[in-house]
Amino acid sequence: MRDIILAGNWKMHKTIKESKELALCLKEKFAGLPLNVIIFPTFTALYSVSESLKGTNISVGGQNVYFEKEGAFTGEISPIMLKEAGAKYVIVGHSERRNIFNEPDELIKKKIRSVVENEMDVILCVGEKLEERDAGRTEEVISKEIRIALDGISREVLDRIIIAYEPVWAIGTGVTASPDEAAEIHKFIRSILDDMFGRGMGANMTILYGGSIKPKNFREFAVLDEIDGGLVGGASLKCEDFYDIGKILMECKKL
Ligand code: PGA
Repeated sequence: MRDIILAGNWKMHKTIKESKELALCLKEKFAGLPLNVIIFPTFTALYSVSESLKGTNISVGGQNVYFEKEGAFTGEISPIMLKEAGAKYVIVGHSERRNIFNEPDELIKKKIRSVVENEMDVILCVGEKLEERDAGRTEEVISKEIRIALDGISREVLDRIIIAYEPVWAIGTGVTASPDEAAEIHKFIRSILDDMFGRGMGANMTILYGGSIKPKNFREFAVLDEIDGGLVGGASLKCEDFYDIGKILMECKKL
């Protein structure tokens, strides 16, 4: 079943104190609303943020993970550690991980498995770079990212996967894909899932759009049936903006 989700990726922003302040503001704003909200604070703030959001409709997740349980992996964090700190979700394959930290599809595949084995849900990010788009390779790139990441996964485990389509050229740039274009890609992603897992499977998957979402531009995405919510970066750092985006999502999806 498709969920409607508003996700906020805080990236490398906010101290513990600032994170707690933002979390408390979100807690007040979103209290009692029928929206599934997930925020992704930094690792250092994750535990205290998750503690302060206990019992609310706001869940917390990790921005990244390593696939091993423990060991000599300096600087990495394991699924068990994230879960213990309160994470219910993990972002895997964000374009900043892929492009700045050179994460290949095979590593992303391993990370996904380790997250689901530890009973957390994955937000798998996919998306094309500008030069790939200009070369007409968008579908090829997205298809490859999804096929490798989800290769061999069972249908049951698929329930733990949310996909976020984030065109790399739209992240943090102020430029968004056109809503129709984004919806077309979402449809294309569902067709890949049908092909991999069987007819009708794509229609059950939650697919979010991400890339320069702001209160002023989100409505035209949120009204489209193909788009089940948003993965928000910059605008998730401001309580008011994130809440306004949430309100738009609830209105458009009639929650
Ligand atoms: P942005 O980031 O909203 O700042 O473009 C989105 C993301 O990277 O998930």
